[in-house]
Amino acid sequence: MSGGAPTHESDLSEKFRRLIEVGLALTSESDVSALLSRILFEARRFTCAEAGTLYLVTPDGKLRFSVVQNDGLRRSEVLVGNASQPITIEISPTSIAGWVTGTGSTLNIPDVHDLPGNCGYQFDSSFDLKSGYCSRSMLVVPMKSPAGHIVGVIQLINARRPGTEECTTFPKEQEELVLCLASQAAVALNNARLTSELQLAYSEAIHRLARAAEFRDHDTGEHIERVSRYSAAIAEALGLAPSDVSRILLASTLHDIGKLAIPDSILQKPGKLTAGEYAEMKCHAKMGADLLAGSENPTILLAAEIAFSHHEKWDGTGYPRGLRGDEIPVAAQICAVADVFDALCSSRCYKTALSSEEACEFLRKESGRHFSPQVVEAFFAVIDKITRIRSELPA
Ligand SMILES: [Fe+2]
Ligand SMILES: [Fe+2]
Repeated sequence: MSGGAPTHESDLSEKFRRLIEVGLALTSESDVSALLSRILFEARRFTCAEAGTLYLVTPDGKLRFSVVQNDGLRRSEVLVGNASQPITIEISPTSIAGWVTGTGSTLNIPDVHDLPGNCGYQFDSSFDLKSGYCSRSMLVVPMKSPAGHIVGVIQLINARRPGTEECTTFPKEQEELVLCLASQAAVALNNARLTSELQLAYSEAIHRLARAAEFRDHDTGEHIERVSRYSAAIAEALGLAPSDVSRILLASTLHDIGKLAIPDSILQKPGKLTAGEYAEMKCHAKMGADLLAGSENPTILLAAEIAFSHHEKWDGTGYPRGLRGDEIPVAAQICAVADVFDALCSSRCYKTALSSEEACEFLRKESGRHFSPQVVEAFFAVIDKITRIRSELPA
């Protein structure tokens, strides 16, 4: 997105057509950071601006440098900070971006080094000094939400004369166009944020549901988190699509959700289970599947598949259905390896933990018997990642 200089489009009607296209494209981008880069890029493309900055208004009322693009510099990303150390400035009428945020008006400045003495705002040259860049002309527009709130500011720097490297001023007619683009961008940003919030809430609800089952099974600690992350790592090694990997990451947390229906007397029994108790314990697979059945959501459906089949064995000796080989859904084949590896490495009220080497040896021995050989191979392909997850989430 940031590669290459924006091309000039001189015809105004062509620009309006393009504006509509960009507006539609922006609404389909749900990744907030990709969206912000795209907004700034498109605004620069419309105006042939060599550089630009997109600021967002933070919840604590500051302006955050969110995207910096500069075709005249190689290290513009250095100036934008990162998620843990964002660069912010106060919303003050004495700064150009602060003035635009405060007033909601556009500024079209021919030369930032030649501002009228009585305008109230000043050009902050510190970023130019740090980077060695020279800002001249600027077009600065507010990003206004449909409710009229300013959610950010687009600052376009150094318009280039079409077909040349020469810097010029931003034509008056571009003000309306960029303002229009900024409003579309504000709507798209709001939508992307809502989508992201919904996804987070959804993911959190699933984790909390999984924890409800784990809660009663006191010994298992971070078992669910580890199994989920091991499963995703294996799925990635198997070459599954990123969307499937994300789905497995979430769905595998629910593999033992059926344990909610198992009595404490069995779940927390310190000694060996009787044959009857073991038979009852085995019901958690079917119960989990029943609990999750009937959803129209693909992640919940996958979770139902995993819950139902994570105790099946490659050679057909598992439960509850005695599926064999590829009859077992891939996600359940994956979760089986992750689940058993983690259970072996964890101490429980009825057993001590094996070392990681011993657990690995077990997986190798059971490849083609308990486990899919391909999944075991994928597990060992990412053993470093598995070890890292184990150290981050100790048993
Ligand atoms: Fe289970
Ligand atoms: Fe488990």
